[in-house]
Formats: sequence, structure tokens, C-alpha cells
Amino acid sequence: GPVPCIHPSILNADFANLASELARIEGADAVHVDVMDNHFVPNLTIGLPVVESLRAATALPLDIHLMIEEADVWAPRYAEIGCESVTFHAEAAQAPIRLARELRAQGAKSAMALKPATPVEPYTDMLGELDMLLLMTVEPGFGGQRFLELVLPKIRRARRAIDDLGGQLALQVDGGISAETIERAAEAGADTFVAGSAVYSAHDPAQAVAALREQAAG
Ligand code: DX5
Ligand code: ZN
Repeated sequence: GPVPCIHPSILNADFANLASELARIEGADAVHVDVMDNHFVPNLTIGLPVVESLRAATALPLDIHLMIEEADVWAPRYAEIGCESVTFHAEAAQAPIRLARELRAQGAKSAMALKPATPVEPYTDMLGELDMLLLMTVEPGFGGQRFLELVLPKIRRARRAIDDLGGQLALQVDGGISAETIERAAEAGADTFVAGSAVYSAHDPAQAVAALREQAAG
């Protein structure tokens, strides 16, 4: 199959030294940036001004994961500052189809995330509006949590729905992805993998990225 993509999450990086932390993940396919508002999830991270500085600080594509309310209002702002891919949560969007179209019209990849307990079936008819579907494999909010095995059947169902459609969109998983779990997620049909602690707790993060990619390829 296609080469799996590894997107390190900087959530567990040193936030006082983000530019040098980005330099440690050369060879990654994109940088996964977790934006949290302390309303949609019980944690607070960074917002537009810091993401704008990150955009200027790296050549890697930015994969923005918005864990914020009022996604319809905020997601386009991230496309506007040049983020290559913008992921909103289905649970936080008033009009996900309109929002996905708006992101594409702005030149960004449109992506939608589902929390572990949100079924994929209500959204299968709108998959054609998306460049990526993110299935959370932990409850969003924090790095370093355990991978939820119970999401595996949903990954398989999403894979089938994407293949039925012609297989154009990426299927991303996020949460608890490590050397211990990535093969199961890949086998279920994921092709794009977010890894936070597994990359940034490694002695050599770039090497950890390469090792995860190799494992996911099977
Ligand atoms: C959690 C975030 C994840 C997190 C992943 O809400 O969306 O991107 O950083 O961290 P790990 O890989 O440690 O589970
Ligand atoms: Zn994330």
C-alpha cells in the first residue's frame, strides 16, 4: 500500500523552545499541532498567534487539530494564516459540510475529527468533502494516554467507507500511538499516524519517526 504518514504532535514538546523542537523531527510528514480551548476539552494550549509563528519557523506542513468550540468561526482563521491542513471536530461544528467546503476554498486540506464514542456512520455521506478523517483513539485533551482498542472496529468501518468512495482521503489516528499500538491501527486501515509522547520521549525523535513509519508499513 501507500507509504504511511507520521505526524508528530508537539503537545509533549518543550513549549519554551518550539523552533528547536521542530528541528528534531526532520523527516516527519507534517507537524501535528493541538489547539485546545479549555471548553471543548479540559485543557488549554496555544492559539492563532503561536501557530502563526510556527508557520514561519518550519518548512514542514502544519496539521492543525482544533479541539475548540465554535469551529465554524475559528477553523477558517487557521487556513487563512497558511496552515496546510485544518481539522475540526464534528462535535464542535454547526455546519460541517459548509465548513469543509470553506476550508478547501481557502486552499487548505479540510479534515474532520471524531471523538472515540462518536460513530462514523452519520458522516459517511460527507466523506467526499474531506481530505482527511481523524478518528481519535483517546479522549481528546491530553498526551500520554492509553490507546483505546475499542476504536479499532470503527477504523475498519471508516476504511471500508473510504474505499467505497474511491479512497481519496487520508485516515488518521491520534492518541496512544506507539511501537506497541501502531501496527494494529495500520492493520485496521489507518494510513496517517499522530504520535506525541512516542516521538518526543525518544532519545532521537527523528529516528522514532522513521521506526514508526517502518512499523506501520508492516
Ligand atoms: C490529544 C491530542 C494528541 C496528543 C497525542 O488530545 O490530540 O495529538 O498529543 O499524544 P500521545 O501520542 O502521547 O497520545
Ligand atoms: Zn491531536
